[in-house]
Amino acid sequence: MNFTPLSFDPPRGMRDFYPEDMLWRNRVFDAWRHAASVFGFQPYDACVVESLELLQRKSGEEVSEQIYHFEDKSGRKLALRPEMTPTLARMIAARQGQLAFPVKWFTIAQCFRYERMTRGRKREHYQWNMDVIGEESVSAEVEILAAAAASLKAMGMPDDAYKIRVNNRALLAELLAKSGIAPEHHAAVFLALDKRGKITDEEISALLEAEGLGEEPIRKTFALLGVQTLDQAATLAGADSPALATLREFFALSEIYGIADRLVFDIAVIRGLAYYTGIVFEAFDTERKFRAIFGGGRYDSLLTTIGGTPTPAVGLGFGDVVVVEVLKDLPGETAAGKNGVVIGYMFAEQREAATRLARALRVQGETVDLMLSRQKPKQFFSRAGSSTFADAIFIGPDDVQKGAAKRKNLATREETDVPLCT
Ligand code: HAM
Repeated sequence: MNFTPLSFDPPRGMRDFYPEDMLWRNRVFDAWRHAASVFGFQPYDACVVESLELLQRKSGEEVSEQIYHFEDKSGRKLALRPEMTPTLARMIAARQGQLAFPVKWFTIAQCFRYERMTRGRKREHYQWNMDVIGEESVSAEVEILAAAAASLKAMGMPDDAYKIRVNNRALLAELLAKSGIAPEHHAAVFLALDKRGKITDEEISALLEAEGLGEEPIRKTFALLGVQTLDQAATLAGADSPALATLREFFALSEIYGIADRLVFDIAVIRGLAYYTGIVFEAFDTERKFRAIFGGGRYDSLLTTIGGTPTPAVGLGFGDVVVVEVLKDLPGETAAGKNGVVIGYMFAEQREAATRLARALRVQGETVDLMLSRQKPKQFFSRAGSSTFADAIFIGPDDVQKGAAKRKNLATREETDVPLCT
């Protein structure tokens, strides 16, 4: 028989997770789950296949162009979700009468986007979603960001290694209105300005012109991006601006949560999704070497858009790709936490002692990889050294005679005695 050789690579943009990759993935997922639980968020989940109609929006967002979709055998139009938020909104709307708001929910969802592949962008990623639904106050925003900061700490990210850049779309809307740009143009202006850095300013101007904006409003729009501080924003928006008051309250509360040192106001953070209505945020590594670590914001109208009753909402999406790149780039970071012990033996006569020791350590809750046949010491230690295990115990005839073996830390080479069981 003739076989056409198949490629061993996964489809472009998709990832395989070998055990060494799972170490990193688990480090991130464990930190997410830990932070979500410490902050009192409840888990939820849904199928990765969603109805295309729910996901497709006509707002001109990039994500709408990137949806993987297909028809099932009955002609239903389905898609692999590119994000979790529409599904969450659907699930909330389905039970709107029964839920005790505000609800605080989290999930780790695999998402698919047909992206142009760049560093930090894949066609599939896992995204931690934390959302507070039914809360108007900025406490919801700060609570979510404090949880995100706690997860970064749990992953081993130093506080000074990242910054969360915060803006308020409502502030931009006030400033655009003062520049003579009518509210019906704001959504398109936000999406155009979000493309800054990805396309040239001339191309953004062309998008704004296509939206019907004249030369002067376009110039004023770009000038707004020069605003650097809340005080500067106040001179334009007026001291009584509600959006500014919200931002000031947000920053004051973040002091009490102990995360203010990682927050900065940045009027250029707008976000590429159309549904955001208020505070928006994006986290970056301090040196800005990588793409956004996470992003999110307030989306008070989404529930209404899909047919639910008006409900305020805030949330965050935190992907697993960029954060691992940032962690790997930290000085001194090698592999994610190795643990457990590998146990091997030299001759068939030591199998019993090795098995008894493995059994005893497993009963104590240790992770033990017991070799299933005898090995030469060199072979054993070379395999153990390249494994995900922290320690190794190799049992030879002398050890059985002495009733004790050496437990070796594979990184430091330090040894301690372990008694063998009879
Ligand atoms: P997003 O900014 O499109 O927001 O994605 C959030 C995060 O997901 C990004 O900051 C990044 O970490 C990760 N991410 C997105 N696309 C990719 C990709 N192609 N490859 C690797 N990582 C990626 C949302 O999706 C919103 N639904 C977040 C949200 C939840 N807003 C409110 N609730």
